[in-house]
Amino acid sequence: MISATRTTTISLTQRYDRTTIYLHWATAALVIVLWIIGQTIDFFPRGVARDGYRTLHIALGVMLVAVVFILLMWRIGGGRKLPNADAGLLGKAAALMYRLLYAMLVSTLSLGLFNLWQRGDMIVFVGRVPAFDPDNKWLSETVGDLHALSANWIMILAGLHAAAALFHHYILRDDVLRRMSPRG
Ligand code: HEM
Ligand code: HEM
Repeated sequence: MISATRTTTISLTQRYDRTTIYLHWATAALVIVLWIIGQTIDFFPRGVARDGYRTLHIALGVMLVAVVFILLMWRIGGGRKLPNADAGLLGKAAALMYRLLYAMLVSTLSLGLFNLWQRGDMIVFVGRVPAFDPDNKWLSETVGDLHALSANWIMILAGLHAAAALFHHYILRDDVLRRMSPRG
């Protein structure tokens, strides 16, 4: 007999729509790469190498700003096809986690943009942004520290979130991970 949970094809209403799925994985990949670049930037000697690495971080960061903006607009505009959610406590906990993840994304991205502005860094195809208040050392340090703190919180929350998704998949053996899977 065919198992109801593992082997049946998930009906379309039981999956997220493709746009949400692709934007979710683009968000996840960009966040992880951006965090790794941010953590390793000091390994590069000051000069061309570090500037280039920072420019890459900023270019991917601007890309993530666009991806998250589209994801949020898609969600707010009703484009997202949400699978039947768990109506109990687990469903409420998951919804709270998504709100926290979105809040931390918006905060990290805003602080990243402000960091770029305060430092007067380069944006690919745009050029150097005039620094906001270059002589204000306190502001530079505070914005940089808050950006890093916010980035670390995203990684902690995303780690818990990914662990929950893997727990569903491998231990509870339900469809939670598969409904976010890009494979149709
Ligand atoms: C930095 C990385 C990540 C971020 C920022 C992130 C963020 C999010 C957000 C905001 C949602 C809610 C989507 C919505 O309904 O609007 C979501 C859903 C989901 N994510 Fe992630 N995610 C990340 C990584 C991962 C990873 C690594 C996995 C799997 C191992 C994963 C699996 C899922 C699944 C399965 C759902 C749908 C859960 C459900 O149907 O209730 N995510 N994610
Ligand atoms: C979720 C997305 C992002 C993550 C996870 C992230 C992560 C990080 C981390 C961990 C650092 C190192 C902080 C430190 O220890 O001092 C950093 C630095 C930085 N980030 Fe981001 N970032 C993100 C988005 C952005 C965006 C959108 C921008 C601007 C467009 C940006 C601009 C910068 C700049 C200018 C630095 C300073 C680099 C340096 O010290 O040379 N970040 N980021």
